[in-house]
Amino acid sequence: MKVEITKSAFEKLRKKAPWVYKNEIVKFPECIPGDIVDLVYKNEYVASAFLNPLSKISARVLSFEKTHIDKEFFKNRIKKAIKKRNFLEKITNSYRLVHSEADFLPGLIVDKYADYLVVDITSAGMENFKGIILEILIEIFNPKGIYQKADKIRLKEGLENENEILYGEMVDEFEIIENNKKFITNLITGQKTGFFLDQRKNRKIVGKYGGKKTLDLFSNAGGFGIYANAPFTKFVEISASACSLIEKNCELNNLKNYEIIKTDVFKFLESEKEKYDLIIIDPPAFAKNKNAKKGALKGWKYLIVNSLKLLEEGGYLALFSCSNAINQKDLLDLALSSSVIDGSFLEAVEFLKQDIDHPYLINIPNSLYLTGILLRKETL
Ligand SMILES: C[S@@+](CC[C@H](N)C(=O)[O-])C[C@H]1O[C@@H](n2cnc3c(N)ncnc32)[C@H](O)[C@@H]1O
Repeated sequence: MKVEITKSAFEKLRKKAPWVYKNEIVKFPECIPGDIVDLVYKNEYVASAFLNPLSKISARVLSFEKTHIDKEFFKNRIKKAIKKRNFLEKITNSYRLVHSEADFLPGLIVDKYADYLVVDITSAGMENFKGIILEILIEIFNPKGIYQKADKIRLKEGLENENEILYGEMVDEFEIIENNKKFITNLITGQKTGFFLDQRKNRKIVGKYGGKKTLDLFSNAGGFGIYANAPFTKFVEISASACSLIEKNCELNNLKNYEIIKTDVFKFLESEKEKYDLIIIDPPAFAKNKNAKKGALKGWKYLIVNSLKLLEEGGYLALFSCSNAINQKDLLDLALSSSVIDGSFLEAVEFLKQDIDHPYLINIPNSLYLTGILLRKETL
């Protein structure tokens, strides 16, 4: 089936951007959501793609060359993604195997937790191949279990949003071993596919700057604070289940002196008076899109200004944004305006991004979704 695209879409696809929006499709044919079509411009072949008229992102490119899209096609792509990540086996038992478009598999996310796989299928096209994808994963890994952790994005593709065991059996509590640190996490009830795997490298980098006292804000399972391994650590996290994981993880990693505060970080900062030499701010995405950016910037400014008040001179502040609506430049601007209020200087010590198993392809700007900076506070 041929589908004509507009000139602007053609120009984007020439630079290997993989998405075509609804208003860039000249005319939708009769189709089943997720059907594979040939995208054409002036009737000339441009790419093969999943087509879904229900979704704002109406076409997701699978290939820029005419090819058979069958089990072999998906198996080769999955094997390529796995090979690229082999070296991570020396560092951790848990990492992302397939990261959707950034591994040329639009709408397929697969995370490996040792013998268990957690899968998130976010496009109607990939859903149509779910049976084949499962066969491939079972052939390659022979896993104990495969679990589907459904993302809300599925609703935008007209798919149901159900979590379920797809194969074998699943454990809920699972022990991640990462850079000789251990973390208990919940694969079934935990956030994301069970753990913030994308912060692995950053936990290690930021952890090295740990001093006497760490404040880990939005701590989830306690990753940053545990890596920093300070004589005293305070964790602030709103989710009760995450707080119980922090406690288990502190014990597992022999952190002796710590406090877990189950509250809203914004409230906590209203009254906190203690000083710290490492503060981490790793909130959820306050702005999922550009429209929500203004409110998100206001929230961020409050967090940074109030954290700077608690930071010792010579101390470190790590900022992370997991939405590309707030990018690294925004974080730097926020840090600068906050330091003016604080009367301090900030040195940018590290520029950070998501770990390598969540690839950032430069032809897909959105694939850079997690950015961070590590700053050092100076006063004269
Ligand atoms: C991006 S995750 C943190 C990941 C963590 N730093 C790690 O490396 O695993 C954000 C966390 O903030 C928590 N959270 C969300 N809103 C919050 C709030 N207002 N106050 C405290 N915690 C909050 C969420 O429950 C989630 O665990």
